[in-house]
Amino acid sequence: MASQEDVFKKLVAHCKEYGFVFPSSEIYDGLGAVYDYGQNGVELKNNIKKYWWDSMILLHENIVGIDAAIFMHPTTWKASGHVDAFNDPLIDNRDSKKRYRADVLIEEQLAKYDEKIDKEIEKAAKKFGDSFDAELYKNTNPRVQEHIAKREALHARYTKALNANDLVELKNIILDEGIVCPISGTRNWTDVRQFNLMFSTEMGSTADGAMKIFLRPETAQGIFVNFLNVQKTGRLKVPFGIAQIGKAFRNEIVARQFIFRMREFEQMEMQFFVRPGEELKWFEHWKQFRLKWHKALGLGDHKYRFHDHDKLAHYANAATDIEFEMPFGFKEVEGIHSRTDFDLSQHAKYSGKKIEYFDPELNKSYTPYVIETSIGVDRMFLSIMSAAYTEETLENGENRVVLKLPAVLAPVKACVMPLVKKDGLPEKAREIMNMLKFDFKCAYDEKDSIGKRYRRQDAIGTPFCVTIDHDTLNDNCVTVRHRDTMQQERVNIEQLHAMLADEVNMKKLFKKIVEE
Ligand code: GAP
Repeated sequence: MASQEDVFKKLVAHCKEYGFVFPSSEIYDGLGAVYDYGQNGVELKNNIKKYWWDSMILLHENIVGIDAAIFMHPTTWKASGHVDAFNDPLIDNRDSKKRYRADVLIEEQLAKYDEKIDKEIEKAAKKFGDSFDAELYKNTNPRVQEHIAKREALHARYTKALNANDLVELKNIILDEGIVCPISGTRNWTDVRQFNLMFSTEMGSTADGAMKIFLRPETAQGIFVNFLNVQKTGRLKVPFGIAQIGKAFRNEIVARQFIFRMREFEQMEMQFFVRPGEELKWFEHWKQFRLKWHKALGLGDHKYRFHDHDKLAHYANAATDIEFEMPFGFKEVEGIHSRTDFDLSQHAKYSGKKIEYFDPELNKSYTPYVIETSIGVDRMFLSIMSAAYTEETLENGENRVVLKLPAVLAPVKACVMPLVKKDGLPEKAREIMNMLKFDFKCAYDEKDSIGKRYRRQDAIGTPFCVTIDHDTLNDNCVTVRHRDTMQQERVNIEQLHAMLADEVNMKKLFKKIVEE
């Protein structure tokens, strides 16, 4: 069986070969951690964004959207704390000259302990068979207990160091744990230093008069600075939310793992403004809502888990991640943060403007508290592609690569194929294209054998192939072939549109989310 690392490499190659993701400016050898989306990638990405946007805007009458500029007044970032505190602790290996995030090195070490614990349990489960009690074994087996104790001690030490911003202790942990550079294999580490992740540029024509501005590292601040504009013009009552999708930029130190950690990426963020004191209730509400949104896609409920933050960001009083099982382990896809009144208060302080809400029910003014849901479009894209990428050996011994994408997100919904390029079949196929194209992204393919055409569509995740054959001209029926099961059925052309509409409609997913 291929290792997960091999699967990931294949997925990256597949994304390029089939027009999903290309390295940025590739003809100049690319640019570190910057990527372009190709013809299929952009469709998938747009569908993800629509799924998120509509789940916010259509399903909630108290959530509205905005689209703020990327450039913002530089004081925004002073007020938000990003100028002073948006740092990563970095460490260099002197032998390989490679740079790492100290916190990531330690988190990987924690994951190694978890793997050891899981392996011991798996081994025992095989040995003892059906009567095996995993929980009991975990709590009593001396070897497992030893791993757990080591993991917990490391976790406690690490959390303490992070929260105290103790860079010396972070380095000591790396040394004490014997963590080596994956490239050089040595422990020849430099000291740990803080590194600010914001990109800056200059606005204005002359060097003298130019103003240093930042590329936004999160879209959220565009929402906070517009709080009063939106609340007043929309006559919105707390609790209410403001949603936004847009680009964000971070000068990531360690930019590996393809589109998982990029320097230019896209976020889908929603800030939900609530009464002070009610934030933890809403935090719980949004945790559950967001998890349902993920699970409704049907990628496998076991692939998600919550992970509470070891170190709270400078603005938060509670925070959790929704992690997804990628080929390289469980990784953060979304963050849900209780941001208190930090941002609005800071902007009030730095701007000198009163940013408050008058609550007619309580008959008093206050600075609302905020629950934020923040998800990276690119990470969501990667999690979907990871779950969808499948290699299969068919009954006839042939292999196929198929992207089992949720039909609602698939870049192309149906491929229309005349069996042969003559006898009036292409004309009939064009009629069907014309019938479907206003509502569904369709492809037309008349080249090569039907088998080859199926493989091409499997590789980009097209859920339905519609074949027009000679019988079609007599019975007005087409053969619809389903991507995952490869089963075929005859469908009357009159019913084709309704069938597709039912299968690729986001409404089904939304109903799952709100009705559960
Ligand atoms: N406004 C809060 C915020 O930005 P975050 O946890 O730093 O919180 C939110 O980022 C989400 O943005 C992450 O869960 C991730 O999906 C995405 N994200 C963050 N940095 C990223 C990067 N360098 N590349 C791709 N996605 C990233």
